[in-house]
Amino acid sequence: MRSVGILGTGRCLPEKEVSNYDLEKIVDTNHEWIVSRTGIYTRRIADDNTATSDLSTEAAKIALERANITAEELDMIIVATVTPDMNFPATACIVQSNLGAKNAAAFDLSAACSGFLYGVSMANQFIKTGVYDHILVIGAETLSKIMNWNDRNTCVLFGDGAGAVVLGPTEEGSGILSTHLGADGEGGKFLTLPAGGSRMPATVQTVEDNLHYIKMDGSEVFKFAVRIMGNAAKKALKLCDLGVEDIDYLVPHQANIRIISSAAKRLKLPMEKVYVNLDVYGNMSSASIPVALDEALEKGKFKKGDNVVLVGFGGGLTWGSCVIKW
Ligand code: COA
Repeated sequence: MRSVGILGTGRCLPEKEVSNYDLEKIVDTNHEWIVSRTGIYTRRIADDNTATSDLSTEAAKIALERANITAEELDMIIVATVTPDMNFPATACIVQSNLGAKNAAAFDLSAACSGFLYGVSMANQFIKTGVYDHILVIGAETLSKIMNWNDRNTCVLFGDGAGAVVLGPTEEGSGILSTHLGADGEGGKFLTLPAGGSRMPATVQTVEDNLHYIKMDGSEVFKFAVRIMGNAAKKALKLCDLGVEDIDYLVPHQANIRIISSAAKRLKLPMEKVYVNLDVYGNMSSASIPVALDEALEKGKFKKGDNVVLVGFGGGLTWGSCVIKW
């Protein structure tokens, strides 16, 4: 089996910032409530002409350049998203065309906020077994397009963005040490977009009833998240014979500062070893972890040999974790 590492990372965030004060003007909320309950101050929102594939393509170009890989050298493109440009073709195929990655297989992956880690796990299998050499994994969302801006329970939480990584063979003993994925379909009802699929096709009525927007039971998702973040991280660590004491840096899904703090507490990790950027981006679903990873790298947060743990959870319900020896 070959060792698999991250060869390059990139990110793309829309320019437009929407602060909590901006939201106060459109929905019954306030800055103090949002900051104290979530830790979010502002988020980026895509304009009307920007779709998920646009952000994905820009993030991917940067990741490819940093990995020193041409688009033609890609064997596969996985786009993890719940906000594809359209139902089909896959956003990954649109990105493939944008990049000119003509030798790459391409598909979208639906695992909500855990999607990026699901994608990394799949790419890891293909590369370590020698089937493929270079795989682009993108986590990208334009959640603003499926948000009800009159629903204060959801519209204050989310933001738009994309993060990309190029995975490939790396020196033995470094790179991905383990991955762990899980799901609990029983909890799917707590986070949904009810209409627009085969169960409830789009009609004038579904639009009038706001059924094409995110619906969430925040407190159920919160309880699940607090429990699963620590457990999932421990599971991945155990799979590579490491313990919580071996974590040098944690890059968690960025949903709520209270969820992240309690996960850090369960893992007995000081917050200095945890990357947090939800204050400026909110929850970008599948894009949260790759964007955080790209920023953490840019800020020199990891040293060679560090054990970096990525952990996420989301709709499905789903969760995932991954240990990387940097
Ligand atoms: N502004 C002001 N008040 C708000 C509000 C907002 N944006 N959103 C909700 N409220 C109100 C509620 O209506 C409720 O009022 P009530 O007591 O009169 O009914 C009150 O604030 C408290 O709501 P509660 O649900 O107890 O708040 P909370 O502390 O649980 O925080 C969330 C709510 C959504 C921030 C929190 O549950 C959460 O983060 N859940 C996880 C969400 C998530 O991560 N989703 C994505 C998963 S990938």
